[in-house]
Amino acid sequence: MRRAKIFNSLERLISKDARLNSNGDLMHQVEYVFANKEKFIEKIQRVKTPCILLDSNALKNSIKEFDENFTKYFQSYTPYYAVKSNDHPYILKTVVRSGFGLDTSSGKELKLAVKVGAKKILLTGPAKSDEELELALDNADRVIINIDSFRELERLGEITNRRKCYIKAGVRVFTKYHGKWNKFGINIDEVSNFWSRAKKYPFVDLVGIQCHMSWNENVMPYSNIIRKISDQLNGTFSEDDLQKIEFIDLGGGFYPYRTEGCYAWSTEAGEIIQLMNKNSSSEFPYKYKYRITESIPIKDFSKGIANCVKKYLSTLLNNKQFSVFFEPGRIISNNSMHFALSVRDVKDKHFGIADGGTNMIGYNKFSYTYCPIVNLTHPSTEEIEFTLYGSLCTPHDIWGYYCFAEKIEEGDVLIIPFQGAYTYSLSNDFIKEIPPVYIM
Ligand SMILES: Cc1ncc(COP(=O)(O)O)c(C=O)c1O
Repeated sequence: MRRAKIFNSLERLISKDARLNSNGDLMHQVEYVFANKEKFIEKIQRVKTPCILLDSNALKNSIKEFDENFTKYFQSYTPYYAVKSNDHPYILKTVVRSGFGLDTSSGKELKLAVKVGAKKILLTGPAKSDEELELALDNADRVIINIDSFRELERLGEITNRRKCYIKAGVRVFTKYHGKWNKFGINIDEVSNFWSRAKKYPFVDLVGIQCHMSWNENVMPYSNIIRKISDQLNGTFSEDDLQKIEFIDLGGGFYPYRTEGCYAWSTEAGEIIQLMNKNSSSEFPYKYKYRITESIPIKDFSKGIANCVKKYLSTLLNNKQFSVFFEPGRIISNNSMHFALSVRDVKDKHFGIADGGTNMIGYNKFSYTYCPIVNLTHPSTEEIEFTLYGSLCTPHDIWGYYCFAEKIEEGDVLIIPFQGAYTYSLSNDFIKEIPPVYIM
């Protein structure tokens, strides 16, 4: 009895987790697969599974939706797609052709950005090497460096003095709202000090302030940060220095709307339930299989952030040069790729092994994150319990615990839709090669 009470309280805690919406489902993703069934089958018949399908229409729709919403609400905004979220050249070329710049975080990414013809590039990231700074200077006509520390400013200053080469720059800051993201940049309280220090280096044209954090589910993190930047600028910057600010870069971090879920056991309360249930005969102690992670649609992000910019940064908006920069990653790349697998081995009614392994995504995402798996050979709008392992010789290789299927047989083709963000760019050849990417 007591045990049941504890279980119920823990379940209530899971439901209260603000990020998780108990009533949600991801049927829109399943319906997308069914609506495009012929296209998927036609492609997969001509190639072999496992493979990655790059969905150019879905990618273009994400770019268009982002751009339309930010153009609508901002007087001037400049998007820089975050290369790290998916660095496939087709994706980079598509975003560049749509007028986006690229946000790079290393010399490797900067070279890629130059190669695909990007006209606007940011070099962001900690601990840049001298070689990376030199490479940015080689492309100074199109690169802005977001400086990460006082020491980096000094090193950049020395290199630019030696080369007599001008470069535009911003300074990355963190605030009390940045949590673990305070590894990056300088404390916002030091920004005016940094601004004065930069005046020592005539070739470093410091014109912006940058910050970033990921996984933002609503406007609150942006509004907190905008307010903090505004307080700092109004309190410590001279009129002349304010006039010099050409951009505030608010980074990326837009968590796509209704895109994935979270298994009960991967919440804190869920972990306790799992521990309590360790020696019990009941196999699944949770009320819910998984919950869908909540966030707001992109139109609400853009409208809300634009309102904060108008309210708190109005002095900067008078500067004709001024633009708000963004570095969207996940929100652009998430829908751009789908994984196609086949069932290689059905070991019993409730578990089997696919022909591809999770080296395709580089980490054990699906052990705790729920995404729909859709059986194209025996489709159904109902989900059955089926643990799908990958083909790597390690137990940590799991694709999911449920499948939209009438039944599952050897050879069935499975689609895991909308897997473009932080998967392909993390994929590796642990045990198996990375499967090919085909454009559809
Ligand atoms: C500096 C910077 N900008 C942009 C991004 C993209 O973030 P997201 O994919 O959450 O939009 C990242 C991701 O970590 C980042 O580090």
